[in-house]
Amino acid sequence: MPRSRPAPKSRPRSAAKRKPARRGKALRTSASKRAGGVDTSAWFAGKSFSFDWTSWHFPNWIKLLEPYRGRSLRVLEIGSWEGRSALFFLNHLPRARLTCIDSFEGGKEHRATPDSQAFLKRVEKWFDANTAPFKKRVEKIKAHSAPALAELGIRRRQFDVAYIDGSHVAADVYSDAVLT
Ligand SMILES: C[S@@+](CC[C@H](N)C(=O)[O-])C[C@H]1O[C@@H](n2cnc3c(N)ncnc32)[C@H](O)[C@@H]1O
Repeated sequence: MPRSRPAPKSRPRSAAKRKPARRGKALRTSASKRAGGVDTSAWFAGKSFSFDWTSWHFPNWIKLLEPYRGRSLRVLEIGSWEGRSALFFLNHLPRARLTCIDSFEGGKEHRATPDSQAFLKRVEKWFDANTAPFKKRVEKIKAHSAPALAELGIRRRQFDVAYIDGSHVAADVYSDAVLT
């Protein structure tokens, strides 16, 4: 089964370096994006997002996950933010169940900016609203990844696909990968 583990080096567009699209205002995603031959526009239409760190990965993910589309995959996502990657998995893998772990406190890089508190307050609300149509297939765990993953391990929970995009501190990424 594929396991998506973004290594720190493969994230050239870190959150700290990328300029936010526009903070404080719900951005309506443009409805014309095609990724890997798949039109993903409807998946994001009418949803609220402030940043897009993710959609440039979609062509690769579509290719990688193509053989597994029809399966009842158990997908784990560490780091959901407003739900963009979650919406990708939920739409592209129509039989998958998705477990999302996020503290909804932002990473170090998000908390470093002066107006971070204002927009961080909205992140979880937007995640909830954006993923609401998929409520039955989404398990939200609001927690830091290390204790949440330990708890899942104790309960012997297993996953077929893991997407690790929480803390981008190397030691945290390593521990997320080991505990997953
Ligand atoms: C880059 S964003 C995730 C982007 C998301 N995958 C998307 O497609 O938009 C990182 C997220 O990880 C969360 N996060 C950072 N460190 C975390 C940790 N140690 N445990 C849980 N969540 C964490 C932050 O709250 C933030 O929502």
